Parts: sequence; C-alpha cells; structure tokens
Amino acid sequence: MDLGLKGKHAIVTGGSQGIGKAIARELAREGVDVAIVARKKEQLEATAKELSAETKGRVIALTADVTSREQVEAMVAQAAKQLGGLHILVNSGSSPGGSTTAIGPIETIVDEDLLRDFNTKYMGALRCARAVIPLLKEQKWGRIINISGTNARNAGNLSGGARNTSLVHFTKTLAVQLGRFGITVNCIHPGTTRTERTPRLLAARAAELGVTPEEAEKRNYAPDSPRGNAICRMVDAKEVAYVAAFLASERAWAICGELVVATGGAGRSVYY
Ligand SMILES: NC(=O)c1ccc[n+]([C@@H]2O[C@H](COP(=O)([O-])OP(=O)(O)OC[C@H]3O[C@@H](n4cnc5c(N)ncnc54)[C@H](OP(=O)(O)O)[C@@H]3O)[C@@H](O)[C@H]2O)c1
Repeated sequence: MDLGLKGKHAIVTGGSQGIGKAIARELAREGVDVAIVARKKEQLEATAKELSAETKGRVIALTADVTSREQVEAMVAQAAKQLGGLHILVNSGSSPGGSTTAIGPIETIVDEDLLRDFNTKYMGALRCARAVIPLLKEQKWGRIINISGTNARNAGNLSGGARNTSLVHFTKTLAVQLGRFGITVNCIHPGTTRTERTPRLLAARAAELGVTPEEAEKRNYAPDSPRGNAICRMVDAKEVAYVAAFLASERAWAICGELVVATGGAGRSVYY
C-alpha cells in the first residue's frame, strides 16, 4: 500500500529520542520532510543528522519547550517556513509516566509536579495543535496524532494516567472541530515500549527481582504475566511508529477522533 505521504511536511515533538524519534524516522522513510522538536539542542541536532543520513530524507532540528506558548509558536512558524508548509503534527514531546510524587495516595500529591506534568503533555499538545491548525486549515488537509498511553485506562497514577486520559478527550474534541476542514485527529495508546530508556528500567526491575535484566524481561513477558501482553514480547518504538505513519497517511481518512491501542495486546479488559 502506498501511504501517499511523499512530499508532506511534519512536526514531531519529542523527536530527539524514544517514540518520537521512531515516528520521525518512519515518516522520513515515507518521503515526509520532518521537523523534530525537543529542548536539548545537541541531542536533537545529532538525531536530525542521524535520521537524515539513514533515511536520505530531510529531517531538521528545531529546539522548543512545549510548555512555552511563545516557543511553540516560533517553532511552528520556523517549521512552516523551512519546510514550506505543514501537513502533520505528532505530539510525543513529554517524558513518560509523570512525576513519581503522583503515584501515591492523594495526600502525597505535590501540586507543582502535577501542574508541570499537565503543562508538558496536555497543554504542550494543545499549544502545538493550536499553532499548526491555521496552516492545516489553509490547505484543507491535515493530520494530528497525539501519543497518549494505556495508563489512561488504569487507576493509580493521578498524573501520568490522568493526563493521558485528558489527551483522549482532547483528541475527540479536536476531531469534531476539525474533520470538516479535512483534518483528522487521532490518538495512540502505547503500552510499555522499547526505547533508549528500556535498559535502565529493566535493570531496576532486575534488581528488585534479584535476576539479570534478560531474565526480568522474560518474566515480564511470560504468557499470562500481568506485566506482559498477548504477543509475549515488548513492543518496539518502531512498531508504534508504523501505526503513527499509517494514521498520518492519505489512506487513513476512515479513522478520526479515535484511539488506537499499540501494546501488543496488554490487559484483558474488553472494550467495544
Ligand atoms: N516509552 C513508553 O513505554 C511509553 C508508554 C506509554 C506512553 N508513552 C508516551 O509516549 C511519549 C513519548 O515517550 P518516550 O518513551 O518516547 O519518552 P522519552 O524517550 O523520554 O522522550 C521524550 C521526548 O520528549 C522530549 N520532551 C520532553 N519534555 C519536553 C518539553 N517540555 N518540550 C519539548 N520536548 C520535550 C524529550 O527531549 P528533551 O528532554 O530534550 O526535551 C524527548 O525527545 C510520552 O508522552 C509518554 O508518556 C511512552
């Protein structure tokens, strides 16, 4: 299937590493010119160079902090100028999980931590969408993809979970507002996904269990392990990126305002 993405222009926030980087790579492979966005200039520029060389595509680095409206608006203006217009926004610019202080009981919540987490993931996505929408409306074609996460569906994390849920609501609301302008808006729920952070997380789990990281991963993904999934292995960031590339494509008109779960079948709840 030809995704029909060649010649399109995209912004991918969080594009310096992890899921955002994997999405930028797949889009560039499909012939999309991509602006990747993050705060750390040096890492971001190194990633842009790496992805350009690997994909033979155009990947540019634009530093911005999505917690700043001014920086987001300047970044979007730069991306549109340097790429020559915009068609696609992927919001992946946020560290996973949220603050550790939000995992415990409500009495331990630190207001500033919760506000910072929402300011990055929810408000960051909103700021980026708000800035790109006029450009997408102009050409009557656009795609917005929000990277949320399955902890939206599990009680327990009043920051990481709650802000993911807020992104689902945001996605549906934007879809209703923008579908009539030829812009689809969708959301992806990754579960635990293999990224640069995985070795550190597995090392911590291995220390808890008193086993090697390899053994810890094997146990997590054993059939019927509550930490695992139906395919009995960790999903790789590139597998989330394939889903994002499809949703960004000309072939995905039928999907708008929806949530695509990309966990390899984690959990046993039936959603219909
Ligand atoms: N990995 C998983 O297992 C998993 C599972 C479910 C959901 N998710 C969600 O997927 C998204 C990406 O996660 P990831 O695993 O790819 O994270 P990651 O590897 O930590 O990458 C986060 C990216 O976002 C950027 N970023 C963070 N804060 C930013 C800010 N204020 N402004 C601009 N850029 C910012 C980071 O670069 P700088 O630090 O340089 O800004 C980096 O490029 C997150 O929303 C996460 O909750 C991930």
